[in-house]
Amino acid sequence: MNQRYRKTIIAGNWKMNKTPSETRALIDELKTLINRVKWCDIVLCVPFVNIPAAIKATKGFRVAIAAQNMHYEKSGAYTGEISAAMLAELGVKYVIIGHSERRQYFGETDTTVNLKVRAALEAGLRPIVCVGESLTQREQGVTLEQIRMQVKIALGGVEGTSVKRVVIAYEPIWAIGTGKTATADQAEEVCGWIRDCIREIYGARVARAVTIQYGGSMNAGNAHELLSKLDVDGGLIGGASLKAAEFAAIVNAANQ
Ligand code: PGA
Repeated sequence: MNQRYRKTIIAGNWKMNKTPSETRALIDELKTLINRVKWCDIVLCVPFVNIPAAIKATKGFRVAIAAQNMHYEKSGAYTGEISAAMLAELGVKYVIIGHSERRQYFGETDTTVNLKVRAALEAGLRPIVCVGESLTQREQGVTLEQIRMQVKIALGGVEGTSVKRVVIAYEPIWAIGTGKTATADQAEEVCGWIRDCIREIYGARVARAVTIQYGGSMNAGNAHELLSKLDVDGGLIGGASLKAAEFAAIVNAANQ
């Protein structure tokens, strides 16, 4: 992470876990464990129905609440969907876009990711855009091509002035929920490459300001090493974000 240019963001992706009452309990526990946060922003990405409880429970505690998905249209006949404006009105600040689980199980594509990124920005939300290669792509040596394509399509039509509000999360699919973390050097290589791709489109000043996270089996044991890399500006943490002590340890590692 390069604190001269950008803030570290540690985001917990709770996925489909916790009820509203369990949300309150986990946040209350976190409050007792997280030290005074100076160097990093904390984000909790909770299921839609837990958003009001999470916002209430984090009042006065420097934590932003995020959604895990949204629809790209403003309103309309999209049964079961949630718009960016609905989230913004609740006080949501960030939204995960294009997580690999959504791409794999819910048919999201680079094109829908782009539509969602633009709609999120327009509604004043900060998108956390997930990109990452599969194991086959890594083994075939096409990781960087895959990432470049995902980043360029996700940012299509996004102005330079808005792109600083976008967070990119590099999440190698083979590392998600598997306990197999990318090495710090692998994470740095791809996060640096993502910054190169952004530089190519928007120039060096913008590229320097964009927060790029690593995600995939990040935990209290490996967070410090991953976060010590220059282009790794935070983490998107799944499993380990559901255990208060573990998540607090990652936040405290980022806050050093
Ligand atoms: P994990 O998930 O930390 O459990 O690997 C990360 C993610 O899916 O965002």
